[in-house]
Amino acid sequence: MNYLLISCLLIQAFSGRICLSIGWTLEWSFPDSSNIDFKLILISDTIDNFGWVGIGLKYDEEEIGMANADITNFILTDLPTDQYSESNSEPIYDIDIGGNENIINPLYDKKTFTYTWTRPINSGDIYDKEHIENDSYQLLWACGQMSEDIPLKHERENRDTVNIELSEEFDKDCIAEA
Ligand SMILES: *[C@@H]1O[C@H](CO)[C@@H](O)[C@H](O)[C@H]1NC(C)=O
Repeated sequence: MNYLLISCLLIQAFSGRICLSIGWTLEWSFPDSSNIDFKLILISDTIDNFGWVGIGLKYDEEEIGMANADITNFILTDLPTDQYSESNSEPIYDIDIGGNENIINPLYDKKTFTYTWTRPINSGDIYDKEHIENDSYQLLWACGQMSEDIPLKHERENRDTVNIELSEEFDKDCIAEA
C-alpha cells in the first residue's frame, strides 16, 4: 500500500504536463542542470488532417501573440526544427537569421504519434528562450495544412496560448488516469 502510493508520487513527479484542448499532451522534465526534455503526444486525427504542428514558448511578461516566440516546428511527420517568429506570421528557421539549431535528439514514434526532443536550458541563442525550471511561460500551439511543401497559415480555431509553469509538478487539464 505504502509502496504503491510512493510509486504513484514518483511517477507524477517525473514530469510536468499540460493537456491541450486539441487533444495533445505536452510533457517536460529536467534530466540535469543544462537540459530540458520534452514529449509531445499528438493524436491520429492531427496526423491525418494536418500537415504541420507548432509549439511556441514566450516569457510570461511578454506581449501575447506569435511575435518573438521560440517555435519548435514539426512538418508531419518529419523531425522538428528550431524556429523563431519575428512577427505574427510564419516563423523562420533560427539558422536562416544567424541563430543555431538547438533541438537535441529529436525522435518520432509513429505507433504512439509521439515526438520527443531535448533543448538546452540556456542555448545562448537570442532566438531561443531560456527554459528556467519553475518559471512561468506562455505556451503557444498551432497546426495547419501544407500546400505542396509550403506550410499554410493556421485557422483561428487551430491555435491558442495557455499559461504554464516549467515545473515537474505542473499538471493542467489532463483527465486523471485510472
Ligand atoms: C523547482 O521547484 C521544486 C519544487 O518546489 C524544487 O524541488 C526544485 O528544486 C525547484 N528547482 C529549481 C531549479 O529551483
